[in-house]
Amino acid sequence: MRLYVILPLCALLTLTEQEHQHGKCACELSNSERAFPHEKLRRAESSASACNSNITPQKTVELESLLQGLEQRLGELHKDVQILEKEDDGELYGVLSLYVIENEMTEIKLLMDKLNSTTLGHQLLTANTSQQLENMKTEMEELEKFDSMQVIKGQQTIRSLTTDLDSCKRELGVLSQLPQGTCPRSRILNVTGPVFFTAGEYPGSYPYGAWGRDPKPEKGKESWYWVVMMTSNNRYSNYVRFYSSLSTLIIGVSVPGNVEIHSSNPATNTIQGPNNVVYGGALYYNCYDRDAVCRFNLTTKSVSTIELHKDTRYNSKANFCHLDECYPYTDLDLATDESGVWVIFTTALDFGNIILSNVEEGDPPVLGKTWQTSLYKQAVTNTFMACGVLYATRYVSEEVEEIFYSFNTVTGKERFSVGIFINKVSPNIQALNYSPVDQMLYAYCDSIMVSYKMFFK
Ligand SMILES: *[C@@H]1O[C@H](CO)[C@@H](O)[C@H](O)[C@H]1NC(C)=O
Ligand SMILES: *[C@@H]1O[C@H](CO)[C@@H](O)[C@H](O)[C@H]1NC(C)=O
Ligand SMILES: *[C@@H]1O[C@H](CO)[C@@H](O)[C@H](O)[C@H]1NC(C)=O
Ligand SMILES: *[C@@H]1O[C@H](CO)[C@@H](O)[C@H](O)[C@H]1NC(C)=O
Repeated sequence: MRLYVILPLCALLTLTEQEHQHGKCACELSNSERAFPHEKLRRAESSASACNSNITPQKTVELESLLQGLEQRLGELHKDVQILEKEDDGELYGVLSLYVIENEMTEIKLLMDKLNSTTLGHQLLTANTSQQLENMKTEMEELEKFDSMQVIKGQQTIRSLTTDLDSCKRELGVLSQLPQGTCPRSRILNVTGPVFFTAGEYPGSYPYGAWGRDPKPEKGKESWYWVVMMTSNNRYSNYVRFYSSLSTLIIGVSVPGNVEIHSSNPATNTIQGPNNVVYGGALYYNCYDRDAVCRFNLTTKSVSTIELHKDTRYNSKANFCHLDECYPYTDLDLATDESGVWVIFTTALDFGNIILSNVEEGDPPVLGKTWQTSLYKQAVTNTFMACGVLYATRYVSEEVEEIFYSFNTVTGKERFSVGIFINKVSPNIQALNYSPVDQMLYAYCDSIMVSYKMFFK
């Protein structure tokens, strides 16, 4: 895979030079720029080789997360460069595409730096990892050559390339809304991981929150991740924070940053409670001090309200709990799956048992069909939806959580003996949500962001 990246880069360099000879290009090539710290990388590599193998399982996961982030970035870079090549129609390549690639390279560099600090901090690299670092070093050298081509991003017109790239990614990554009962996956077989975890940008600061990916992202935002932290009293927040990729989330560089609902906190439409989701370019959450769901349109910054059933329990009256301890303001749990957005809650009329409804998108959005379960809400720590099936978890120990319950909205069948276990990195789970894009389970655990891979039958 590594070589694939290199070859297109060289091809690109040659082609551009030819165009230059034909007099179609007004720009010059310059080799003066050295965006990648070659020397730094070499030192990182030698310090890696010197490492001993005294590795704790946690540290291994941390490192694997970083490497995985890097792997992902390189994969994307490869794809983008290939598309850039296809774009060649005898004219020059698109400026915007070069920006995309340049950004990716910057992220890769930041990731390398983070990898270095993890390495030095814990002295935990194995020979295997240092081999991988060696490979990366070679790759970075090639990337560095490419970087010197930045100069051509002068006055050329933007080609259709970015559009192609986006629509391609969209096709690949996004499952469109599926009607009830036509989900390609059936029940969960297993949940493995953590595949990834990070303390994020504010380690330990906000124990309540949620994070994940938009399963139906807007154009150009396919690789974005969102984070909502309860920044005030573990109860409210007035913004959602975005990261342009998993690697920027790891290194804590938030671009494009916060999208604010309101400048002060709490105010009307403040986010209350951690179990939020982003879907289709909007944040869905429990509106502050109300028995309603708010939909915040991230583009227009406008809020629509979805009214819930009469006597809906809210303001910490029907929380998720474990043993005799409850998680404040978790009355409403928003969830996403292949078919869209769901809200999991209870009313005074349902004896505190969980009910769930799907949200019908539209303007204004409304509550769709409702299903009743016989699962007492305060007996579970969290819930999520996958393929039209509701799953609930319970606390087993500080290290283990169990997915013990399921409710199938297609058949109406309930199971209390699902028996799938999740390894935790911290005792509490404040938010849990499934992403149909990558079949991952995203958990927010005492301020740590964790993801798991789900396997279906
Ligand atoms: C790695 O990190 C250490 C400590 O932060 C720093 O002193 C060193 O220069 C870094 N090395 C590279 C290769 O970036
Ligand atoms: C590192 O380990 C993985 C499996 O853990 C293996 O697939 C890979 O080939 C190893 N790489 C090297 C360079 O030894
Ligand atoms: C689930 O995954 C774990 C860890 O990989 C494995 O030990 C277990 O056998 C798997 N269970 C099933 C039912 O596949
Ligand atoms: C947000 O508003 C824009 C502009 O009105 C609209 O096109 C888009 O569909 C809205 N998104 C959601 C999720 O409602």
